[in-house]
Amino acid sequence: MTTPLIETRALCRNFGALAAARDIDFRLEAGARHALIGPNGAGKTTFVNLLTGVVQPTSGSILMKGRDITGVVQAERVKLGIARTFQINRLFRRLSVLENVCIAVAERVGAAPSMFRPAGMRRDVVEESMHLLDSLKLTADATHRISELPYGRQRLVELAIALGLKPEVLLLDEPAAGVPSAESHIILDAIDGLPRNIGVLIIDHDMDLVFRFAERITVMVSGAVFATGSPGEIGADAAVRAVYLGRAGHG
Ligand SMILES: Nc1ncnc2c1ncn2[C@@H]1O[C@H](COP(=O)(O)OP(=O)(O)OP(=O)(O)O)[C@@H](O)[C@H]1O
Ligand SMILES: [Mg+2]
Repeated sequence: MTTPLIETRALCRNFGALAAARDIDFRLEAGARHALIGPNGAGKTTFVNLLTGVVQPTSGSILMKGRDITGVVQAERVKLGIARTFQINRLFRRLSVLENVCIAVAERVGAAPSMFRPAGMRRDVVEESMHLLDSLKLTADATHRISELPYGRQRLVELAIALGLKPEVLLLDEPAAGVPSAESHIILDAIDGLPRNIGVLIIDHDMDLVFRFAERITVMVSGAVFATGSPGEIGADAAVRAVYLGRAGHG
């Protein structure tokens, strides 16, 4: 077997008496299209928070391409190539779409504006950012403030920012949450069009999206991995259907 992009070994996280992550052994392969599903409160976001370093594990370890990154802080993990979108969006609302993406790209290439470069962003940063906006069909919105955009487009900008970090691992926590159904196709198309070299882990309650996108699905229940398999295996798993899919109404 090849070394996975991300691997967790017996990963645990307690919040007081609550075990939000229990002994999670998980593998995200290079270039994966992997979905993480499970009922509300199952621990999906906590797991992403553990992978990104937002939350520290109580025990267990996290490896990236075989290297133990359990003790690596959040900002360093971003530099190693782990990017995410948040369940609730975090954008600079008064800045333009282009400015928001430029900030991410500049951060990555070490070209953040400074007192030595008061005029603004480097040309290569702006060009790369415009190219990214173009790939997500956001060019027409480049000069618009985030606060002027419909919510679905704001979420697309989040995706542009995550991609601006040139990640190897992209963690999408409910990327279409709160997006009106009339706009959600924009998000879904963008996800479908993500570069194939990026390993993607997506969390979503929309089973049509999950079963269309994922090549592998992990089901979490009460902080633990309940099942992992291909969409066919997960869809046909009677126990999974009983705990989750039945309620979520897939199939
Ligand atoms: N910082 C925290 N402090 C205390 N408890 C927390 C914290 N973060 C999460 N929890 C608890 O951990 C459990 C797992 O929460 P988590 O948000 O990871 O679930 P989830 O699977 O993402 O749910 P949802 O589908 O609703 O987004 C929940 O019981 C939640 O209340
Ligand atoms: Mg969540």
